[in-house]
Amino acid sequence: MIVRAATKNDIDAILLLLYELGRPKPRTKSKKTMFEKQILQYIKEKQLVVAQVNSEVIGVISMILTPRLNQTRLEMYIPELVVSRTHQKMGIGKALINHAMLLAKKENCFRIRLESGHARKESHKFYSHLGFDQYAKTFKLDLEK
Ligand SMILES: CC(C)(COP(=O)(O)OP(=O)(O)OC[C@H]1O[C@@H](n2cnc3c(N)ncnc32)[C@H](O)[C@@H]1OP(=O)(O)O)[C@@H](O)C(=O)NCCC(=O)NCCS
Repeated sequence: MIVRAATKNDIDAILLLLYELGRPKPRTKSKKTMFEKQILQYIKEKQLVVAQVNSEVIGVISMILTPRLNQTRLEMYIPELVVSRTHQKMGIGKALINHAMLLAKKENCFRIRLESGHARKESHKFYSHLGFDQYAKTFKLDLEK
């Protein structure tokens, strides 16, 4: 297994992984093109890293570095982490988190933060096992299209 920066060639595989994560599939071609452009933007900003086994991309993590008003150091936010069902429980998620941790330390971040839906009980155990603390509730307000 290798962990490497995502490239343009990985876009289709990344989209499939995002669908596995439960992200909605685009209903129109123009929406799919928009998703692809967004992924490409993340790739350009070096915010996407993939895990690959035998030339197949089976995991992805996205990482955003953000300044916070009351901090002198950046925060790393992880919007997406997913390992394909066929390759879970093989150490791949941990390898991706380890990669994020190394980057966060290199960038002198003060912490790593992420959100995980109530239903994702197994991923909560995974994060706890890796040393993450649950410390907040997340609120959202869906807006009409
Ligand atoms: C959550 C997820 C990323 C974990 O990745 P993974 O590759 O399956 O996990 P790993 O094999 O790297 O596990 C790393 C460690 O966590 C432990 N772990 C993983 N899942 C666990 C669970 N459900 N309960 C307890 N421990 C768990 C492993 O035993 C392993 O421990 P070790 O390092 O001591 O051997 C992956 O299962 C996934 O993509 N799930 C579906 C999507 C999802 O929920 N993503 C998170 C969105 S917030």
